[in-house]
Amino acid sequence: MPRDQAADAQHLYDDRATKYDDSWHPRFTQHVIELLDLKPGEHVLDLACGTGLVTFAAAQAVGLTGSVTGVDISSGMLAQAHLKQLSTNVENVEFHQHSITSLSNLAGVQGRQFDAITCASALVLLSNPALALKHWARFLKPGGRLVTDVTHIRSQLGHLTLERVGRILEIPIPSHRLRFETPQHFQDLLQQAGLVDVDLKLVSQVQVNGHGDGVDAHVCNMNQPRIDRVYTIEDGETIFEKLMGSRYGEALAADGVKDRARQLFLAEWAKLANDEGEIEEVDGVFVGVGWKPS
Ligand SMILES: C[S@@+](CC[C@H](N)C(=O)[O-])C[C@H]1O[C@@H](n2cnc3c(N)ncnc32)[C@H](O)[C@@H]1O
Repeated sequence: MPRDQAADAQHLYDDRATKYDDSWHPRFTQHVIELLDLKPGEHVLDLACGTGLVTFAAAQAVGLTGSVTGVDISSGMLAQAHLKQLSTNVENVEFHQHSITSLSNLAGVQGRQFDAITCASALVLLSNPALALKHWARFLKPGGRLVTDVTHIRSQLGHLTLERVGRILEIPIPSHRLRFETPQHFQDLLQQAGLVDVDLKLVSQVQVNGHGDGVDAHVCNMNQPRIDRVYTIEDGETIFEKLMGSRYGEALAADGVKDRARQLFLAEWAKLANDEGEIEEVDGVFVGVGWKPS
C-alpha cells in the first residue's frame, strides 16, 4: 500500500503511464513551453516530467548547447520517456527517478542552478506545495523563471468532491487541490517562494478566442471562466461509482468506508449546485510564471 505522497503518485501514475499521452496533456504542455520562452543554450529542470512531454519539447528549444533534466517518481512514466528518448536519439536530456520534494541529494541536480524550472500538472499532487516551491527556487539561477500550474477550483469536480470527502474522513486522496481555492492562493505561494513579476493566466482546454492553437487563443478571463460542462445533482451517484473503480478513489472504496464515503460525496456534490440545480464545470488551468530576482 502507498506510504506517502510520492509513493501514492507512483502507484497512481505507473498504472496510467502507457495511456497518459492520449489525453489533453500533450496540448497543454505545448502552452507551458510557449510560456517558458526558452533560448538556445539554456538549462532546464523539468520536475514531475512524467512521459517527457515538456522535457523533449524543451530539449528541442534549447538545442545541443543546452540541456533538460527530468525528474519523476513513477518508473512507469519514466519508462515511456526512455522509450521516446531511444526512438529519437535525443542527447541533451537526462532523467532521474526521485521525489521532486527532496532534490538536495540528487546527483545531476544538487549544487546546480537552472535557467528555467517547470512543474506541469503536478503541483496540486504535492502535500506541501508551499515548501516545494521554496525548495525549487533554490535551484533557479538569479534571473531564471519557474513555470507551474494549478487546476481551476471548478474543474474535475468529481475528484475535487472526493478530496473533500477524504478530508472529512481523514483518508488521504492523492491530490491537494483544495489549497488553491482562488488564483490569489496560487499567486501568494509563488511570491512566498521569493519569485517576482508573477504572471497568472487561466488557460482553457479549448480555444476561446483568436485563431490557431497558441496559448493566447486559450486564455480566458479569470473572473468569467468558460463553462465547459453542466452536471445534475443526480449525476453524483454515477460519478462516485466511477471514481471508486479507479486508483484515485481506492482508499475510499474499502469495505466499511465506501457507504459513508458515498453519503458524504453525494452531500458535498449537491452543495456545488446553483439555484437551478446545475453543477457547472470549467476545464481550465491557472498557469503561473515567476522570476527569481537577478
Ligand atoms: C499529471 S502528470 C504530469 C507529467 C508531466 N509534467 C506532463 O505535464 O505531462 C503528474 C506527474 O507527477 C509525478 N509526481 C507526483 N508526485 C511526485 C513526487 N513527489 N516526486 C516526483 N514526481 C511526482 C507523477 O509520477 C506524474 O508523472
